Amino acid sequence: MINNHCAVQPDVVLTGDRATGPLHLGHYVGSLKLRTRLQDEYEQTILVADMQGLTDNANHPSKVSSNILNVVADYLAVGIDPSKTTICLQSQLPALAELTMYYSNLVTISRLERNPTVKSEIQTKGFGRSLPAGFLTYPISQAADITAFNATLIPVGDDQLPMLEQTNEIVRKINTLAGKPVLSECRPLLSHASRLPGTDGKNKMSKTTGNAINLGASEKEIRSAVKSMFTDPNHLRVEDPGTIEGNVVFTYLDAFHPDASYVADLKAHYQRGGLGDGTTKKILEECLQELLRPIREKRAEYLSDKGQLTDILAKGTQVARVKTEAVLFSVKDIFGLNLF
Ligand code: TRP
Repeated sequence: MINNHCAVQPDVVLTGDRATGPLHLGHYVGSLKLRTRLQDEYEQTILVADMQGLTDNANHPSKVSSNILNVVADYLAVGIDPSKTTICLQSQLPALAELTMYYSNLVTISRLERNPTVKSEIQTKGFGRSLPAGFLTYPISQAADITAFNATLIPVGDDQLPMLEQTNEIVRKINTLAGKPVLSECRPLLSHASRLPGTDGKNKMSKTTGNAINLGASEKEIRSAVKSMFTDPNHLRVEDPGTIEGNVVFTYLDAFHPDASYVADLKAHYQRGGLGDGTTKKILEECLQELLRPIREKRAEYLSDKGQLTDILAKGTQVARVKTEAVLFSVKDIFGLNLF
C-alpha cells in the first residue's frame, strides 16, 4: 500500500497518543483507522504516552493515569489487534527515560525553543515563567520513543512534523558520534484526514476545546452533538440555497458516510436549496450512531474486565522492553558506558 522503494529493511511503524482523555472521532479518521490497516503489513507498535501526558498535567496526574485503560479500550474497540500490534506503556519502559537523558546532551535549549509546535503550545497554555522543563523537552523524549523501536515510519498529523525533524537531528548526531549508522532516521506518514474539525466548526476536534465526539459517546451524546453542529449560518429557510464549505455536517458526511455518491447528491440538493439542516443532521446522526454503536459496545466490554485489559498492556510492554533495552545498550555503547 505504501511505496517503499529505497529502504532495504522493511519499515517499522510507531505511533503514540498522550493518555490525557478518551479518544474521539478525530483520532478515528486521523489515525486509528489507518493503524488497523498498517498492522496487517508492518511491524507496528503503539505507545500509550503517559509520561508525555504528564509534561503539562503533573498537577493533576489522575487526568493521565485514569485514562490509560480508556485509551487501550479505544484501540481494541476499533480493531487494533494485540496479536498484530504491540500496545505498550511509556512509563513502564525505563529505556525511554534513559535515552531521553542521553539525548538531552545533544540538543540545545534554543533549538527546543524554536520547535514551532511546542512554541505555539507554550503560548496557548500561557505557561509564562512556570513552563515545566519536561514540557520544553518533550520532543527529546519523543525522539527516544521513536529511536528506541528503530521506527522508520511514523503516522502522524502535521503538527508532529517538528518532532520528527528533531528526532532525525538527534539520530544524525548519534550516528556521527558512533562513526557508523546505529539509529535509523524516520519519516512521517501523513494522513489526509488528520484534521477533522470539531462540532463547532472552529478548531480541530480536541478534548480540550469541548468540540469532540468520543468513541465511547452514548446515543444521547451523539444526538445532541449533531444537533448543535455548526452548519451554514446564512441558511435560514429550507428553500434557501446552502453552502457546503465550512459546513461541519457535510465535512463529517464526507468523512464517515459509506456512500460517497449519495453524499454528492445531498450536497447538490443542499446547494440548490430545498434541503433543511434538520434533514442533513438526521442523516449524519444515523450514520454516526451506526458507526459508533459497535465501537461503544466493544469498548464497554473491554472496560468491564480491567484485569484482562491491563494484562494486554503488560504483555505488549514486555515485548517492547526487550526491543528498547537493546537500543539503549547500543546508545550507551557509543558513550562507552556499558562498563558492567
Ligand atoms: N506527541 C504525540 C501526540 O501528541 C504523541 C506521541 C508520543 C508520539 N510519543 C510518540 C507520536 C511517538 C508518534 C511517535 O500526538
